[in-house]
Amino acid sequence: MINYKKITDDTYWIGGSDRRLSRFENIFPLEDGVSYNSYVILDEKTALFDTADISISDQFLENLKGILADRKLDYLVINHMEPDHCSQIATVVYMYPDVTLVGNAKTFTFLSQFFPELGSINKITVAEGDSLELGKHTLSFVMAPMVHWPEAMFTYDASTGVLFSADAFGTFGAIDAGIFADEYDFEKRFLDEARRYYANIVGKYGMQVQAVLKKAAGIDIKFICPLHGPIWRENIAWFIDKYQKWSTYTPEDDEIVVIYGSLYGHTESAAQKAASMLREKSGKQVRIYDVSQTHASVLISEVWRCGKIVLFCPTYNNGIYTPMENFLSDCAALTVQNRTFALAQNGTWAPASGKLMREKLEALKNITIVEPVLTIKSALSETDEPELKAFVDAIAEA
Ligand code: FEO
Repeated sequence: MINYKKITDDTYWIGGSDRRLSRFENIFPLEDGVSYNSYVILDEKTALFDTADISISDQFLENLKGILADRKLDYLVINHMEPDHCSQIATVVYMYPDVTLVGNAKTFTFLSQFFPELGSINKITVAEGDSLELGKHTLSFVMAPMVHWPEAMFTYDASTGVLFSADAFGTFGAIDAGIFADEYDFEKRFLDEARRYYANIVGKYGMQVQAVLKKAAGIDIKFICPLHGPIWRENIAWFIDKYQKWSTYTPEDDEIVVIYGSLYGHTESAAQKAASMLREKSGKQVRIYDVSQTHASVLISEVWRCGKIVLFCPTYNNGIYTPMENFLSDCAALTVQNRTFALAQNGTWAPASGKLMREKLEALKNITIVEPVLTIKSALSETDEPELKAFVDAIAEA
C-alpha cells in the first residue's frame, strides 16, 4: 500500500522500515529494525533523494510511483552510494529512463563499480557549492567526505530549509506511525540507538563530522532529513549538540561503566563488589556489563556516553580474554579517545591481562589509566580488601 508523507511544502518522505533484519551490516543487532528514508520534491522538475535498501524495495517503489503519479522523474540525487540506499538505482533508471543522476565525482566512481550497466546514463557531476534549479527550489550541495564514506554529501534546499543529511543524524530503529522526531519521546525511544549508530558507524570519523558541522552552522536549517530514523524539525540544536559531543569524543554524562569478562564467575563477583563500592564512594550511577553477553556495539556506545570505564579481565592463553580483546580492538578501530580507564586483571598463576590492556589503551589518544591496576589471584578475598579499596578510591577521585 502506498505510504508516503508530506514533510513541508512539496517535499515528501517516501521511505519504509525493515523490522525483520536481525543485524545491520550483518554485524549490529537490531532490536527494533531500521528505517531507510528516501525523499521526493515535486517542483517544475521532480527530484528523488537516494533510493532504499532492497529489503523495502517493494514499498519504496510503490511510494515512488504513487507520489510521481503520471509525472516523470527528472533527477535522482545520490547523497550516499552505500547499498542500503543505492540498491534501487538501476531499477529507478529502468522505470524512468530519462532521469539524470546527480552526484559528485566519487559517487560516479562507486556507481560504475556497483552498476557497471549504467555507464551511459545521464549524469550531472556536482562539487562543493554547486547548485541545481528545480523551479522554485534550488538545491545546493555540501560535500561530507568520510561521514562515513568518501562520496557522502548533503543536499540543502534553501527555499524550505531542508537539509538532506545522508547517514548523518540517523539512528537505528524502525519508524512507527510518525516520521518526525518530535512525534516521539526521542530520548526514551531513540537516543541510545542514535548514539550506538553514531559511535559504531561514524564514530571513527569525528574530525570529518566536525568539518561538516562547521559548514552546517552557516546554513539556516529548518528540517534535517537523514537516511535512517525520524526527521528533525523541532529541537534541532539539541540533536546537533549531541553530534558536537560525540564527534569531539566528549562524554555526555559522568556515569561510570564497568565491563567485565568472566569464565566461571570469580571476575564477575569482583566487578560487582567494586561497582557497589564505587557507587557508594562516588555517588554516581554505575552500569555493569558482561563483555561476553552484551554486543560490542552497545559497549562502544556506552564508552561514547560515559567518561570513566572500568575493565575487569581474566588472563586467557597468556593474553586478554577474547571477548574483551575484541572490545578493545573495536575501541582502537573507532578511535576512542579522551577517556579514563581503570584496569583489573585476574590470573590464577600468571596474570598478564592488565599489562596487555594497558598497552592497547595507551596506544589511543588522550587516555588516562587510573593507578593502581588491581590484581586478583583466582578470586577476591577479604585479604584483598585494602587493594580493592585503594582501587575504588582511585577511580572515584580520577
Ligand atoms: Fe545507511 Fe552508510 O549507509
